[in-house]
Order: sequence, then C-alpha cells, then structure tokens
Amino acid sequence: MVVSVNEIRKTFLDYFAKNGHKVIPSSSLVPDNDPTLMFTNSGMVQFKNILAGNETRDYTRATTAQKSVRAGGKHNDLDSVGYDVRHHTFFEMLGNFSFGDYFKDYAIPYAWELLTKEFCLPKEKLAVTIYHNDDEAHNIWKKVSGLPEDRIIRIATKDNFWQMGDTGPCGPCSEIFYDHGPEVWGGLPGTPEEDGDRYIEIWNLVFDQFEDLPDGSRINLKRPSIDTGMGLERIAAILQGVHSNFETDMFQHIIKAIADLANTDPNGPLKASHNVIADHLRAICFLIADGVLPSNEGRGYVLRRIMRRAMRHAYLLGVKDPMIYKLLPVLQKEMGEAYPELYARENLIKETIAIEEERFGRTLDKGMRLLDEEIADLPKGSKLSGETAFKLYDTYGFPLDLTQDALKSKDIEVDVEGFDACMERQKAEARKNWAGSGDAGVEKVWYGIQDKCGATEFLGYNTLKADGEIKALVQNGQEVSSVTSGKFELVANQTPFYGECGGQVGDIGVITSKDFTAKVVDCKRKLDNVFVHVCELEDGTVKVGAFANFEVDETNRSRICANHSVTH
Ligand code: ALA
Repeated sequence: MVVSVNEIRKTFLDYFAKNGHKVIPSSSLVPDNDPTLMFTNSGMVQFKNILAGNETRDYTRATTAQKSVRAGGKHNDLDSVGYDVRHHTFFEMLGNFSFGDYFKDYAIPYAWELLTKEFCLPKEKLAVTIYHNDDEAHNIWKKVSGLPEDRIIRIATKDNFWQMGDTGPCGPCSEIFYDHGPEVWGGLPGTPEEDGDRYIEIWNLVFDQFEDLPDGSRINLKRPSIDTGMGLERIAAILQGVHSNFETDMFQHIIKAIADLANTDPNGPLKASHNVIADHLRAICFLIADGVLPSNEGRGYVLRRIMRRAMRHAYLLGVKDPMIYKLLPVLQKEMGEAYPELYARENLIKETIAIEEERFGRTLDKGMRLLDEEIADLPKGSKLSGETAFKLYDTYGFPLDLTQDALKSKDIEVDVEGFDACMERQKAEARKNWAGSGDAGVEKVWYGIQDKCGATEFLGYNTLKADGEIKALVQNGQEVSSVTSGKFELVANQTPFYGECGGQVGDIGVITSKDFTAKVVDCKRKLDNVFVHVCELEDGTVKVGAFANFEVDETNRSRICANHSVTH
C-alpha cells in the first residue's frame, strides 16, 4: 500500500514529537522577522532569532512542516522547475530544531533512526556528506550508521556550509543522499557525475555555529544549535517507489485535474507543462493565502511571474480561457487539512487568480504570436533582440524570465543588456515627466524615492508587527541620511502600517531599534505605492540602511477597520 504525502508528513512530526520536540505550525511565506529575505525559504526562518540567541521560548526542541518558496533571492529554483523532477517553486520542508539543546550527537542518530527504522530505507541506499574538516560529524556518522568510509564523503565547498541569506545563523552541514539506482544516470556527491539524478539529496542537517552580521562579519553563536530540512516531496517519491516528485500521489491528483480540464494526455508530449502548472499552482495559492498579491515590484512581481508562467503553460495545453483558478478545489482536497488557510482565504485566492488570468489572457495570445514571428528566422544558439523582449514586457505583460523560459527549448537566448537598456530609457523618460502637483519641491522628493526604492511592500493584512529596512528619510521636505531630532518621514522596504490614501485614516504606532524610538503619528501613501511613516523621534538616531521593528497600534487599527475595510 502506498503511503500518502499527508501520512509521511505526519510520521515525521510524530517521530520528533515522541522525542521531546514541540510541533510548531508553519510560519507565513512572508517572513515578518527578516526584512532581507524575499520569502520563507526553509524551516529555520521562523526560529532565526532563537537560533541567534536573541530570543527564548518555553521549548528548546521543535519540529515543523514549513511552507517554503525558492523563487527569488539567495535560493532560487525557478529556472529548474519543469526541467528536472526535483525542484519546486513551493515545497514543504520537514525539520527538527534544537535551540542550544542537543547538537550533532543527537541530530545524526535521530536522522538515521527515522530514515532506517520509521521509513525503513535500506542502509545500502544511503550516503552522507560532511563539511571537509568536520571530524566530529564523521565519527558520529561512522558509529551510528556503520556506513563505509566511501559513503561518508567530505566536501570542501559551500554545498556543505549552509546560509539562510546574506545574514543570519549558519554553519557546516551534513547532507543525506538516496540512491535511485544504477538505471538512473548520476554519481555520488563530489564526483564529476554528481549533478545527475541518481543520488538525490533528501535531508540536510545544519550544525549552526555562527551568525553572519549585516556588516559582513561572522561571529560564534552563543549556543550551538541544530536546524534540519528534508524535502517532503523528495522523501515521498522515494517512499512511494517513484523517481519523479511529480509522480507522487499529491502531484498526480493535481495533474489529473489539469488534464481533465484541458482534455490532454498528462503523459504525452506536454507532460512538462502539466508538471509546471501543478508546481506553480501550489506557489500561487499559498503566496496569495499569505497576503502576497500580484504586482509589478518585489514579492508581488515574483508571484506575477509565477502566475504568468503557469498561464503560458496552460496556453501550451491549448486552453484559451482562465483555468488555473478552477484548480483550487483539488489543492484544497490534497493540502487543506494540513494548511487550513487554503479554505480560509478561498475567495481571495480564487478571485486573484481569475483576475490575473483574465488580464494576461488578453495579451498572451498576441505576445506568443509576436514571439513566434520574431524567432521564425532565428537560428539555434542566437539571441532575441532586447527591443523585442522589452516590447513583449511592456506591451504584452511578458516578464523577461517568461520570454527566456519560452525560448529555452528552442536554444535561443535573450539579449538581456539590450532589454535593460530599453528599460532604463523608459525610466529616464518617466523621470523627465516628473511634475509637481502643489508644492513641486516636496513632490519631487517622493518621485525620487519611488524611483530609487520601488514600492513599499505592505504586510499589514497578515501582521501588525514586522521588521523592515529603512530605505529613505525626509526632513523638512529634503531627503536626509539620518535624523537626530524632531519630525520626519520614513520609508522602508516593507511595513505592516496601513497607508492613508483618498481620505482613509492611516495607522499609528511605533518604530524601534536598538538605536532609536520613533512614534508614528500617521502613515500616508505617496504616488500610490510608497508608504510614508510620519514620525516624531523620541530617542536616539535613525539612519538610512538600518533595520527596525515596525509595530502598529492595534486599538487604533481596529477603529480604522470598523470604518473602512482594511483587511480582506
Ligand atoms: N536550513 C537548511 C536547508 O534549508 C536545513 O537546507
């Protein structure tokens, strides 16, 4: 009998619960504790401050199934999706964590016991890597697993040193690989064939010992800790005896729903398109459920790119009308029990997808025709002009990576420099047209800030408290790099503060860091998407580039909500 993805998730969490770990729910895909991270990309993100020793909880062992997206930022798998059977934009990471509790001495035996006793994987199918100078991990692996020397492989590259991003807890790691068998091409890690599909990494045990700071330095963590991550989709493929993640029960049910809607053969020549849509559907629905909406900047733009890529693949299946929003029920059936937000945010998810499908549907066909015409005479290995790629972007809504993706199978690249030059020309034109309404001097400041910093990401649908990076400061109508007293205006990369526009009331609250405290007396939106915190400095010095905590006054927010519909 095939054990389902949902059962495998449960077995993992139950095993660690039985061993004294607290089962903690997945955190949001939008990290509210880290302004530098685009999306939650692994299980440790929600525990970052505990790992760094800056926060304690009433438990020192935890286990999670964490929603993760790797489609932007340091960890970006978007370009692999659909071209191999292992990578996803959205995936679930199973993990166990020790916050200054156990270290390698327990992390390795737990992993080995779970894999060989609970999941019953044969020892002969497993191999592990360690960081090249980590003798301690080597000795524990040898003792616990009895694996031969050539299956405890020393790796000297960054593959065995894990970092969440440019800052944060990090350390050497030990990866566990599964052998899919000699009929699949590939070799052990560290060999020239390591990129093949035969030996697949299933679990990464990170021995957190250091923390990278924003100034580029690396310090020792107060308490060595453990962070592990196992891709649920990969272990499911193994336990279900299939080679591709897309052949597991959960993906197969989604793929069947796609094929039924499109009236296609999911195993025919368009198999990859079915896989891509199934993959992207999960990222799309979970991102929207966590408050990301399609837009032209930041997180919203990553979402839009994933949505439009999925829509192009639906188009390749011959479907001309919106269809992706119709797949929500099958996803709810597969994942709604583990992630009830798929039901709680049902209307928002459905409507957001349907609107985006309508909107892009109007230009997709024309854009695809233009693209086909342009490449008709291009030989393999040549480049599509930057102007054409820009026209597809500007007029037909084709993100650059969608055009690149569409050309990949034809072995044609895009002249990216030419594309960037067109983009820069358009921005310069827009700059020339900056006109002030009212006090021209003051308005121009905001155009400049918008041009430089982009749109502010609004996090306030899901949280009233989040970290942000200070991008710009304005005092007496002038942009400044720091403020030491008085009233000023502050723009960050992201904020939970609702920005007043068109007569609505903005949020009030506080912005604090170790260097300052500022009262937020109002929040306004300039040029529609720049959220400006109107502040009074109470203490310290505020500087551009610093990180701070943004906290909305909850009672005031409730009053706003009573008057206007701020939340969905
Ligand atoms: N944080 C580690 C990873 O994502 C476990 O691989």
